[in-house]
Amino acid sequence: MVLASSEANLHLKVLNSEGDGVKNSEGLLALQILMNRPIQKMLLEVFPDLGSWFDFAAIGKISERGVAVLMEDDQAHPLGFVHARQEGIINGPEGKEKWLFSILAAAEKGKGVGGILVETLKKEIVSHGGKFLFARTDPSRTDTIAFYMKHGFEIDGVVGHYYYGPTPAVWMWCDLEKNV
Ligand SMILES: CC(C)(COP(=O)(O)OP(=O)(O)OC[C@H]1O[C@@H](n2cnc3c(N)ncnc32)[C@H](O)[C@@H]1OP(=O)(O)O)[C@@H](O)C(=O)NCCC(=O)NCCS
Repeated sequence: MVLASSEANLHLKVLNSEGDGVKNSEGLLALQILMNRPIQKMLLEVFPDLGSWFDFAAIGKISERGVAVLMEDDQAHPLGFVHARQEGIINGPEGKEKWLFSILAAAEKGKGVGGILVETLKKEIVSHGGKFLFARTDPSRTDTIAFYMKHGFEIDGVVGHYYYGPTPAVWMWCDLEKNV
């Protein structure tokens, strides 16, 4: 939906999708993102086991509203990517107000990319009526947990057997009304 140039040499692309996929004027950008092999390569470098828990092509197919934010450099190399979606329309109004991260990754850690992606994502979700954003991660990712807490998330608890393995997941919650 929005194409914005932010800081020097950084470009942000924000994509919204709803229900029956990505629409009209956003279609081209959606296709660009879904067909973008460099993003997929970058995500695979960050998460070598990506194929077991993430389906890139599903971004354009899910029935919930979704938001993706991509950051690229001047040469269109992906620097970071985030996607989040509504919890589930089957849960009625609550399912539309609660959002979940699908994936978040920065090509190079600690350069501020993740922070820009998450803050952009939060604003976009609020503009679509989202009130709460949940993040989940492996408890061993202590840098990631600290990162989320810096961006307004609180730890809600640990859910056992959540990931394959079975590895537990730390669930974190952000009240978007107070943290955007
Ligand atoms: C979590 C992640 C997306 C955060 O993105 P990022 O671009 O590293 O985050 P930022 O640079 O905005 O912020 C990281 C903070 O840690 C600091 N930092 C310094 N060195 C760092 C390093 N080597 N690694 C991570 N953070 C570092 C940064 O200075 C910053 O702190 P500040 O905001 O107080 O300055 C990224 O680290 C990542 O891709 N991690 C692996 C995958 C992952 O855990 N994904 C998320 C959940 S499954």
